[in-house]
Amino acid sequence: MNYSVTAKEGGLVNADILVQLFSKKEMKRDAAKVLAALGVVASPDGDFKAAAGEIALLYRQASGDEASRVLLVGIGEGKEVADYRKAAEAVARKAVDMHLGVLAIDCSPVDDWAKHSKQKPEELAATLVEGIQYGAYRFDRLKSGKLDKEEKKEKAEKPKAIEELVLAGCGNRLDAIEKGAGKGMIVGSCQNRARDLVNLPGNHLSAGELAHAAIEAGKRGGFEVTVFDKAKITELGMGGLLAVNKGSQEPPTFTILDYKPKGKTKKTIALVGKGVTFDSGGISLKPAQGMEEMKSDMSGAAAVIATVEAAAGLGLPFRIVGLIPATDNMPSGSAQMPGDVITTMSGITVEVGNTDAEGRLILADALTYAKKEYDPDVIVDLATLTGACIVALGSTVAGLFSNDDDLAESIFKAGLSSGEKVWRMPLWDEYDELIKSDVADVHNTGGRGAGSVTAAKFLQKFIDGHKRWAHIDIAGPAFPAKGGSKTPGATGFGVRLVLDLLKSWS
Ligand code: BES
Ligand code: MN
Ligand code: ZN
Repeated sequence: MNYSVTAKEGGLVNADILVQLFSKKEMKRDAAKVLAALGVVASPDGDFKAAAGEIALLYRQASGDEASRVLLVGIGEGKEVADYRKAAEAVARKAVDMHLGVLAIDCSPVDDWAKHSKQKPEELAATLVEGIQYGAYRFDRLKSGKLDKEEKKEKAEKPKAIEELVLAGCGNRLDAIEKGAGKGMIVGSCQNRARDLVNLPGNHLSAGELAHAAIEAGKRGGFEVTVFDKAKITELGMGGLLAVNKGSQEPPTFTILDYKPKGKTKKTIALVGKGVTFDSGGISLKPAQGMEEMKSDMSGAAAVIATVEAAAGLGLPFRIVGLIPATDNMPSGSAQMPGDVITTMSGITVEVGNTDAEGRLILADALTYAKKEYDPDVIVDLATLTGACIVALGSTVAGLFSNDDDLAESIFKAGLSSGEKVWRMPLWDEYDELIKSDVADVHNTGGRGAGSVTAAKFLQKFIDGHKRWAHIDIAGPAFPAKGGSKTPGATGFGVRLVLDLLKSWS
């Protein structure tokens, strides 16, 4: 998708559809006037309440290449950033469904929006562009179209995606909107790349291919990417990653993305992402029902890759090190067995009571490596770690665990501003009891209760006393169950969350 910004009025722009945002109040106050000026013949009156994300399609007499379609979209009270995000996503979904290539949004009320939402025009423009990209996302690269019916084939000739977005009526806010739109493009496109990686099934995305995706991100973003192969991983003694990989036909990878800003570096942030390309459970095999969703078990890794690329694109003033341990988790004659005791890179031994609790084993080594090699100011890990977190918080909210109250607070706030919400859970000492092992230093499962907490407590053993660490369990929101979100499949959860966190520090 390309974008442009213009002072020209929305109604005069060449486009397939013109979008008008309305708050509930402005709908009552201005709609009749605005629509009449555009030449819309009839107003939707009470049929359209301007709730956030509500849409109504109208038509007008237009000349030349001007849009004859006018899409009204509600922003509710217009007080929350989420209202604008919802509106933009709804608009994009509609435009893609209608196969419209060029979309114009009337931004002339941007000062009103800024007033209602207490956001800068730049921020609002970024949100709108992000939302448009997010809503326009489709995962169709594995569809050949060979079996499509005739009418669908005809449709396929029309634009499949939004080709151009015009932000119109920008008047004296042109520069701010231009700047915001540029940022929104970066964030939105990186988040959609994360979704692509997550949606790719196990046979299209191995640990090697995931590492390759990181290399590509590095080329685009201009930062360094290093991939450790199995020999190097063995040399480093990453016993957790090797143990999970034992049942696999595909070698593991350990990828490091290293973005260093041009100017002075404020601090170093390590982002660790779980990269299980497919989680069958291993010998502790998962039930068949829903197992295919475990192609999404590298959502943490995808979010980290996308976040580092976006941070580089935005030129954020931090050194950001992304660390991705990657493998699939498969059962075979060579797979690790329940009851095995393994030695992780830290030297800590682990009794593997359940081979399906594999994420924490590979993350253990990555956390050890992050602390040892980079001594970062902050460590944040993102992982689709436990089904228990979905039981606790559902499929829209992530679990947050942190040993630092300020860090937890900042992440919580970033959750609200980005719309990728987190809720904090405890790390109290009593939970340590649940992961004691009779034969090793620690056990990789903690019984039935508090599954997401015991998983977090396990990870905490590998941060080697680091003082500012957070673990975000994204099992729910990364890949919501069917019907759980408007576009099926991956959400790219975590990208906007971590970027908002980083922005709050810059
Ligand atoms: N990848 C899963 C967690 C998961 C479940 C993510 C559902 C997304 C949706 C993880 O590796 C896992 O299997 N966890 C087990 C842990 C248990 C064996 C202690 C779980 O949650 O059941
Ligand atoms: Mn598992
Ligand atoms: Zn897993």
